[in-house]
Amino acid sequence: MPITLAFDVYGTLIDTHDVVATLQEMVGDKAEEFSRTWRDKQLEYSFRRGLMQNYENFAVCTSNALDYTCIYHKAPLNKEQKNKLLGAYRVLPPFKDVKEGLARLKAANYHLYAFSNGSADAVEMLLSTAGIRDFFLGIVSVDDVKSYKPNPGVYSYFLRRSGASGGSAWLISSNPFDVIGAISTGMKAAWVQRSPEAIFDPWGIEPTMTVSSLCDLSEQIARYQLTDEN
Ligand code: LAC
Repeated sequence: MPITLAFDVYGTLIDTHDVVATLQEMVGDKAEEFSRTWRDKQLEYSFRRGLMQNYENFAVCTSNALDYTCIYHKAPLNKEQKNKLLGAYRVLPPFKDVKEGLARLKAANYHLYAFSNGSADAVEMLLSTAGIRDFFLGIVSVDDVKSYKPNPGVYSYFLRRSGASGGSAWLISSNPFDVIGAISTGMKAAWVQRSPEAIFDPWGIEPTMTVSSLCDLSEQIARYQLTDEN
């Protein structure tokens, strides 16, 4: 049975915080905090839209969250500036460990998919621009089921689309809510903790494994599978 890996995209493969450079030109010292509020609100809006069953695609959550963040930080950006930021969000770079990590996994014959809240078009563009699209067998977007992570339905949808079973499918994510969502649906999950300061939600649901770099993943999953089978 091949091992299937579902990679979260925003915040795991792709560095959403890269918009800070563009933000600095517009909001100066507030750029770091602005970027964090924007990302947190974007996710909150996706959770709420999922719960309310009032789906609009992830780009709408991102754009609405940007409007909120401007009001919250008293930074009234004009339409052109907002469009520039939303444009920057469509072509973000990968984290430094991503290419090497994916190359090792691919060489070890894992089946790699991108699995995201983002629409298939947006993710296709993001991964292509980042130069990592060819590592993946496919892109699975929650857009097809009109809901968001961590709705269990979107993880089940991933399994159906990839033809994998829960026991042989791993979610790989830096987002603790995503890791907990996948484990609750019966998948295995690796939490990518790039910074020692990153906190995992203390819910009593632990990641199957934690790695500090994608470069360690291939070896660690192989080791885990060996012990798991024994
Ligand atoms: C994604 C969000 C959760 O790519 O970062 O699915």
